[in-house]
Amino acid sequence: MTDLDSHPATATYDDGADTAVAAEMTIDDADSRWESLLDRLNDLSVTKHFDAYADIAWDDPSFALDPTDPRWELAPDDPLGGTEWYQALPQQTRARLGVELVASKMKIGLIFESILKRGLLEFAMTLPNNSTEFRYVYHEVIEEAQHSLMFQEFVNRTGYDAPGLAWYDRLSSRGIIALGRRFPQLFFLFVLGGEDPIDHVQRRELRSDREKHPLLERIIRIHVTEEARHLSFARHYLKRTVPELSPWRRAQLAVGAPLILGTMAQLMLKPSSDLVRRYAIPAEVVAAAYDENPRHHAETIASLGKVRKLCEELGLLRRPYTALWRRFGLE
Ligand SMILES: [Fe+2]
Ligand SMILES: [Fe+2]
Repeated sequence: MTDLDSHPATATYDDGADTAVAAEMTIDDADSRWESLLDRLNDLSVTKHFDAYADIAWDDPSFALDPTDPRWELAPDDPLGGTEWYQALPQQTRARLGVELVASKMKIGLIFESILKRGLLEFAMTLPNNSTEFRYVYHEVIEEAQHSLMFQEFVNRTGYDAPGLAWYDRLSSRGIIALGRRFPQLFFLFVLGGEDPIDHVQRRELRSDREKHPLLERIIRIHVTEEARHLSFARHYLKRTVPELSPWRRAQLAVGAPLILGTMAQLMLKPSSDLVRRYAIPAEVVAAAYDENPRHHAETIASLGKVRKLCEELGLLRRPYTALWRRFGLE
């Protein structure tokens, strides 16, 4: 699997590393580079896209989902999988907990994608006729809908009735969706906060030589391939538009960044409270595996590495805001 920055979607687009060259670029240059990035992303959405049902052999016997399959067991280097508590569980419970952990992340993922799609549609309504961005945003909405179909189908096949995030949906999703229209830069920062940690985890999963269930591997490959485009769009959109914002808007972004990134990463990387209850995972095991585990902490920070670097480039990671990054455990 290629890395984002060497992905064909972005390979020839200046990633802003050479700021001296970027500073000399005329506005026309920047506009035409942006347009050509969008053209490439749009082409890839046509030639390299996936359908949740046509492109996954759900009923192939090798894809059958048995929740007690040992391949679902958590690896010893997983924060929870490495605990004595987990290792002392019967084999079938270890496997079931493993697959339900995957299902709960897919459920959270599809709720996130639901908010994302609605925000993108709001954003699209602000765009004029003949906008290349409009076409790209609609491709992304369609791709996210296919992801949500495949995630939900996987959840259904585990037999686990994974709950949604009712409180989260009620409290914050409406506000986030409205940002797509009112403050797209903050909206796309939220998008990266959700997509980047998951992308990091999924790429690591693909690289590991542990035997994976072929159904999960197929889903992850499809997701990582299409997410590379989504991440590329959000990243370059921010690079292009944040420098033009007022100091007040940039201050709002600088405060929002650590808050959003800290919350989203935890949501994606820790077990849901429903699973903690369902398996009666003792509080001290959760604390030792996640909150007080320096390796998990380092992993969380690593999963936000790319978006953190982007925030630095955008001038959002500076004093006094660095205190917030520390406060949210992102330093
Ligand atoms: Fe997705
Ligand atoms: Fe995405």
